[in-house]
Amino acid sequence: MLEFEPITPFGARAHGIQPDAPPTPDEAEQLRAALRRNRLLLFRGRTFSEEDHVRLVSAVGTVRSENGQVVNYLNATPSRYIKTDAVAQERYLFHADYQMLPQGPLRVISLYGVKVDAANPTFFADMIAAERRLPDGLRAYLEARDNVQVPYHPRVKGDTKFRVSERPASFPYFRVSSLRRHSASGERYVSVSEFFSSHFEGLSEPDSDAVFRELAAIAYDPAELYVHVWQEHDLLIFDNEALQHARGRISGASARSLRRIIAHPVTMQALLADLGAFSTTYD
Ligand SMILES: [Fe+2]
Repeated sequence: MLEFEPITPFGARAHGIQPDAPPTPDEAEQLRAALRRNRLLLFRGRTFSEEDHVRLVSAVGTVRSENGQVVNYLNATPSRYIKTDAVAQERYLFHADYQMLPQGPLRVISLYGVKVDAANPTFFADMIAAERRLPDGLRAYLEARDNVQVPYHPRVKGDTKFRVSERPASFPYFRVSSLRRHSASGERYVSVSEFFSSHFEGLSEPDSDAVFRELAAIAYDPAELYVHVWQEHDLLIFDNEALQHARGRISGASARSLRRIIAHPVTMQALLADLGAFSTTYD
């Protein structure tokens, strides 16, 4: 029997999982329900091999390969996934992975702390809860105006807001509903990103910034964030539609290594098809 202990202000710590045994159908259903309800699950104090990790994530969604492999490692030092040292250590503004795409964001992301650094937490913001906190005027504004989002580009740093005006020539951008509906629950969530949102449709970048600031004070209110301070072998599974994530600048000496596994209903090639020729940027 699995147990889920609530984390403040959202998320739950899961107890009772056996890393080296496949979850039973009943446990898999409990995991899916707990993820829907809590948006983030933490497994702490156990060790998960790559195989154990893939099996656990498979209980909540269809695991897909990324960069040609199912298991990837995010390192604070240069790696296959993060291409330059400078970008690898930058602060990352709040975003959900691939949230600008017409099909919506990647559904589920899981991270496992192979090598961690408690001084470099990951920040999570619940964008469904943020939608519920919106003042009526701002909600009506967001209902009426799409925002324009630019995908991450490796030449731009993680602490820089993406702008259509500053993107590399011919790089794609997307018009996104500012309030979207969650693919599973139908709940509305704010789909404006500190990182990817360039401006609101029909509004200049400076005028958009005033609205971004008003929204950020609500969506990224420090009192409403879950700050995950990493311990070795922590395993997180989070709902990348409902949540946005960010991190501070990685301090110079860190050699943090996080294992990443994703789940999504279609292949990454199908998800990234809308990027056209630029989808290879993400290979
Ligand atoms: Fe990300």
